[in-house]
Amino acid sequence: MNARIGILTVSDRASRGEYEDRGGPAIQAYLEEVLASPFEERARIVSDDRETIAAALRELVDQEQCCLVITTGGTGPATRDVTPEATEEVCEKILPGFGELMRSVSLRAVPTAILSRQTAGIRGECLIVNLPGQPKAIGECLDAVFPAIPYCVDLIGGPYLETDESRLVAFRPAKAKRKA
Ligand code: MTE
Repeated sequence: MNARIGILTVSDRASRGEYEDRGGPAIQAYLEEVLASPFEERARIVSDDRETIAAALRELVDQEQCCLVITTGGTGPATRDVTPEATEEVCEKILPGFGELMRSVSLRAVPTAILSRQTAGIRGECLIVNLPGQPKAIGECLDAVFPAIPYCVDLIGGPYLETDESRLVAFRPAKAKRKA
């Protein structure tokens, strides 16, 4: 079975069709550029409602069996921004390093990077990573954390993800590398 990767756009306006979803397609384009191993996407768009976000995450992990789910939007300080809470609710483990690194690299681009509460965590055999809603944040954040994602997916029992090394080199300890 090909690896399955979920893309979850969290936006009231995009979910109502008032606004074109640019974040989901930007994540899809990023994955197609960076990943060399075969994968299938499962894309969803939901409103900024905690229970709706949590239900979409559970569906992508438990039913669709995604090994990685990347969310975009809803990480800021506004009342309706609740993606990190929904992520924490469905995850058994939180990986704070993802948010720390993404905020740190984003600060080089925008001083408002500290407004994002983006996090990451593990549900079952799936890694869930939050990104801010700004489409340009997607490449900035993923370039920083993606080198660690394939090995994280190995460690939780997921498929062996390979990157196009001319674009992005994934780090794995020597003992974890699969022989060509
Ligand atoms: N990170 C990067 N790399 N680039 C950005 O443009 N925007 C910031 C921040 N992180 C931004 C970023 C802003 S303005 C906000 S309000 C927060 O992400 C939260 O965005 P969200 O609520 O759309 O998730």
